Amino acid sequence: MNQTTFIQQLPKVELHLHIEGTLEPEMMFELAQRNQIALPFNTPEAVRAAYQFSNLQSFLDTYYQGARVLIHEQDFYDLTWAYLLRCQADNVIHTEIFFDPQTHTERGIAFDTVLNGIDRALRDGREQLGISSHLIMCFLRHLDEDSAFDTLRMVLPHKDKIVAVGLDSSELGHPPEKFERVFQEAIGHGFLTVAHAGEEGPVENIHNSLELLSISRIDHGVRCVDDSALVEKLAQRRVPLTVCPLSNTKLKVFDHMDRHNIVELLRRNVCVTINSDDPAYFGGYMTDNFQAVANSHALTPQELAQFTLNAIEASFIDDAHKQRLT
Ligand code: ADE
Ligand code: ZN
Repeated sequence: MNQTTFIQQLPKVELHLHIEGTLEPEMMFELAQRNQIALPFNTPEAVRAAYQFSNLQSFLDTYYQGARVLIHEQDFYDLTWAYLLRCQADNVIHTEIFFDPQTHTERGIAFDTVLNGIDRALRDGREQLGISSHLIMCFLRHLDEDSAFDTLRMVLPHKDKIVAVGLDSSELGHPPEKFERVFQEAIGHGFLTVAHAGEEGPVENIHNSLELLSISRIDHGVRCVDDSALVEKLAQRRVPLTVCPLSNTKLKVFDHMDRHNIVELLRRNVCVTINSDDPAYFGGYMTDNFQAVANSHALTPQELAQFTLNAIEASFIDDAHKQRLT
């Protein structure tokens, strides 16, 4: 079997995916028309051509603009269902999805509208496609602590639908310390925690997210290589990193895929996983991310499969179900 077919057929587990980042330009136009929202572009191709980013913030500005077309529960359902169909095509057997309620509540959309649409699609995905899933609610780190506390309060009646809370958006200038109290309160309510750290921000953000936010895994975390003692610790404790190769090259975290450190980290026994982050904006879903890494780094079939084994280990799937997958 050639490597392309091997990658295509490899069962995959996704642990770092922003549902708002799966909004393809075609769906953006469809929803804009349905909801009578003006877009600053005439065609989906023009939208796609505008996706040239110089750093994380330049992407986030575009991404929050795009999300304005999401208004009704059915919009969130359609967005999530389209992503699940991509999972099916890529042989993704389990996915853990982020959503950013504040992106929507800040513009007057009810929290329940967002959550119910996503949750209903995930339930249909389990029943009709056999794709298991969990949902992770992220706080936007560029907003203040009060807004995060308000958001945490909104999710409490829906605790059964959410496995963990996370932290995303602009890392520079918004360190994990800012959210220590809200994370500790979330833990008190029984949520697991994750956080974006060491994507663009310094290695201290990884240390502080582990210590102050008690995170189970680090989203991105590629800057850990700036501290070799930390890499040792992550490897020894098997603290997972949810790495997003195409995102990192699109946002200039690495100049080129052949400079990406994911393979080095894999060989240093860090529990690294491959994920797509915001696939509609970065040019690819799970198979594309695996393929992009394999095109720039010589990898054995065992190493490619290890990314999936790592993702199963790093997932929030319960232990009995994990045993059945490995
Ligand atoms: N929100 C969506 N994608 C993100 C990323 N790569 N980093 C931080 N926040 C995000
Ligand atoms: Zn992300």
